Amino acid sequence: MLTKDPLWYKNAIFYEAHIRSFCDSNGDGKGDLPGLTSKLDYLQELGVDCIWLLPMFPSPLKDDGYDIADYDNIHPDYGTVEDFRTLVAEAHARGLRVITDLVLNHTSDEHPWFVESRKSKDNPYRDYYVWSDTDQKYKEARIIFVDTEASNWTYDEPSGQYYWHRFYASQPDLNYDNPVVADKMIEILKYWMDMGIDGFRADAVPYLFEREGANCENLPETHAYLKRVRAVLDADYPGTILLGEANQWPWDLRPYFGGDPDDSAVPGDEFHMAFHFPVMPRIFKALKLGDSTDILDIMDRTPSIPDNSQWCVFLRNHDEVTLEMVTEEDRQLMWQLYAPDKRMRLNLGIRRRLAPLLDNDRRKIAVANAILFSLPGAPIIYYGDEIGMGDNIQLFDRNGVRTPMQWTAEPGAGFSEADPADFWAPLIDDDIYGYRQVNVAAQMADPNSLFYTMKHFIATRKTHPILGWGSCDFIRVADKAILTYLRRTNEAQMLIVCNLSDQPQTATIPLPDFVGVTPYDVLSDTSLDSIVQTDYSLSLTPYQYHWLSLFRT
Ligand code: GLC
Repeated sequence: MLTKDPLWYKNAIFYEAHIRSFCDSNGDGKGDLPGLTSKLDYLQELGVDCIWLLPMFPSPLKDDGYDIADYDNIHPDYGTVEDFRTLVAEAHARGLRVITDLVLNHTSDEHPWFVESRKSKDNPYRDYYVWSDTDQKYKEARIIFVDTEASNWTYDEPSGQYYWHRFYASQPDLNYDNPVVADKMIEILKYWMDMGIDGFRADAVPYLFEREGANCENLPETHAYLKRVRAVLDADYPGTILLGEANQWPWDLRPYFGGDPDDSAVPGDEFHMAFHFPVMPRIFKALKLGDSTDILDIMDRTPSIPDNSQWCVFLRNHDEVTLEMVTEEDRQLMWQLYAPDKRMRLNLGIRRRLAPLLDNDRRKIAVANAILFSLPGAPIIYYGDEIGMGDNIQLFDRNGVRTPMQWTAEPGAGFSEADPADFWAPLIDDDIYGYRQVNVAAQMADPNSLFYTMKHFIATRKTHPILGWGSCDFIRVADKAILTYLRRTNEAQMLIVCNLSDQPQTATIPLPDFVGVTPYDVLSDTSLDSIVQTDYSLSLTPYQYHWLSLFRT
């Protein structure tokens, strides 16, 4: 059963599942909803609280389903609306919540609205999209898919105008200045909420409106519309959430929470949660250079958010590691460090999975997760990263990080009964990351596996709600290889200490308030030396980490 707490998301663990790659129930080589339903016990065993499903709607799949052709149905590869209802009911019966992607900004060019819209300038649906006689409007808007799109405008020969799109040309942007469109999208949202889901991951939200002279991101009109969406959820679906995808700087993200920037006690009235994009590449940079500075800098510049809101933190997802929120110099550095082969690069990012990015080094993977699970925010795990799956840089676009889940060492990897040659994407089958080496069954049988490390992080985090609710003070210490921060609530304090380097380090941490306390590592269930003076000295092996409860006895 689900917990009743309306603020459940403050301390929830999220799991991002790609339906097409998770589990195939009917042997067609494509994952589907019944397949995913059959794996809910696994997710329950792992201990996550909420599943985020990538788009599951009918779609020509030119952007893996983010190009929706029909908002009211399920893609036939995935099953039926009934299958979806079953998934939600079965998840809820196990105490798991379900959120789905909500793609507001654009549709597929095969959506009937666009098919009509492009028929002629006077078609009644013309105004559902953004059309123009010139491609010189909104010139300050950046191009996001820089590898494929030369312009945000595409000329439509038959109807003689350009249409606006922030992503692929096959994804025309909806026109939110048209109140009919704005209303229709709310109807769609209600349709899915009425099936009992627990909220949405709202896709690509900065771009809903366009205005001349602006970069067409984060416009006041966009915030006003999103507040309207939130009001619908609050009024009709209490306890459900909106998780915003806005790849922006923290100060530009702050308005997406709403409320009062100067008073966190004023409830947020826009998104409940937003991804903290900029900290993510900085964690990778910090681990490569053994230097915590950039993490500290971005967290210092992260504003406080309303008490009823939460950040969502992640290491990897279904997209590339986006390097949009770093300097040009750092982008070049990250590419050199993490994407030496050009095929690893995509747009302004890196299309690789967590384990390969971290050299398949268990110590690095563990410390990265120790950070993820203790930073302010709710963590998201990307499917397959809990067992250290690899990637395939030969595959098109971002498909290389979306390959079939590796359940067993048997042919087909337990993903599907189909001939593996017919799988929608090939299994990873190399000597290091291949399904014979890396799979759920093997890891569940091995108490020392990454699966159990992840399960332990999840369980430990859940028994320490301070990690979801507590304030966070980052402490700058002389040794830059040390990342340390203090989480606090009125009742508890926890000190996180991580060695980001491949060398042993001795951290000297000023802890004037805790002299006389004996730190207790809640991850390893061991006591450390007591804090006998203001500066606490602690030795760490390469990539070692502690979550230290600071009890006063
Ligand atoms: C979001 C999704 C990405 C998709 C894009 C366009 O950024 O995460 O996968 O391509 O929106 O819908």
